[in-house]
Amino acid sequence: MVSLPSMISTKDFVSSKFSPIEGKTTWASPSNIALVKYWGKYGDQFPQNPSLSFTLSKCITTTTVAFKPKGKSNDTFSFSFLFEGKNEAAFHPKIETFLKRIVPYCPYLTEHHLAISSSNSFPHSSGIASSASSMSALALAIASMEREVSPTISSDYFNQKASFLARLGSGSAARSISGPMMSWGETPSVAHSSQAYGTQLFGKIHSVFETFQDTILIIDKGQKKVSSTLGHQLMENHPYAVTRFAQAHEHLAKLVTILSTGEMDDFIALVELEALTLHALMMASNPYFVLMQPNTLAVLNKVWAFRQDTGLPLSFTLDAGANVHLLYPEEDKTAILAFIQTELSVYCQDGQYIEDQVGAGAKML
Ligand code: PMV
Repeated sequence: MVSLPSMISTKDFVSSKFSPIEGKTTWASPSNIALVKYWGKYGDQFPQNPSLSFTLSKCITTTTVAFKPKGKSNDTFSFSFLFEGKNEAAFHPKIETFLKRIVPYCPYLTEHHLAISSSNSFPHSSGIASSASSMSALALAIASMEREVSPTISSDYFNQKASFLARLGSGSAARSISGPMMSWGETPSVAHSSQAYGTQLFGKIHSVFETFQDTILIIDKGQKKVSSTLGHQLMENHPYAVTRFAQAHEHLAKLVTILSTGEMDDFIALVELEALTLHALMMASNPYFVLMQPNTLAVLNKVWAFRQDTGLPLSFTLDAGANVHLLYPEEDKTAILAFIQTELSVYCQDGQYIEDQVGAGAKML
């Protein structure tokens, strides 16, 4: 377990209470796809190992928070929630849990009524994990409330606080604030990295990665059989945990070098190893579980054969589900999209896939 570095204290993110205000803020925040995976956490959503992701550009949640003084001062939360224009009571417990987690850092929340409305750019039933985009969008909107009363806070602090809050909603959401890449978790390979919030990857990034493509094959739209919350928990007594956490540090260091050199064979070998390691950890958990589907494996075999036949640098990664993220340089888009359409779309539920690419991070609208 890595402890919090001495210079960062979660106390730095405690805002003071302020007199309630009225206003409205809207944020569009993207999803992200991890190349080095976060799997295993401790304490207040701190990661057992550092991770690094591509920020996406088209899979976005847009969230508006209209806030006004609540009237009665007490410790409860007052909010309403519309998802795609409809009152969605099913989301209320998740939002309430999030507000409870972040209120020690945002004490002004209990003084306000929040009218939250949210929509996704991607179909809700596509099996795409929306927690990174939705939690980061909400965290950014809430961080904006305090920026209204402290307009001079630096953009670095604002982004750190938004990422810090997003992390408390969903760990991977910490990496959705900026682009084109973010890491989360303390590691000597990334300057200013932290356990408590995500850090934008600076330094030399090869131009090939600035427009890298991610086509997401929707293999299964259904609800996951095992939640990532449970998956993280199963790393607690996992026989391979110590080795895995050490490996993630090594992989992240290698990946930072690869991202600067643009060495494609090394990139492919590393991201595919990370994806399969994530699923191998699931299969070796106690109790074990498998989230890949037969069509996931069919796609992986097709990708390997395509790469062998064409020499084109098409690779894959997987999140905690059956869907496959296909990663490739923009210059190979025409050939690879033709391959996806003719040979891979048959493995997708309802033939569905989403064409996305690396993006610049969240935007205030
Ligand atoms: O953010 P969570 O708790 O849903 O966990 C995400 C875990 C992975 O998507 C599998 C890996 C990652 O780093 O995003």
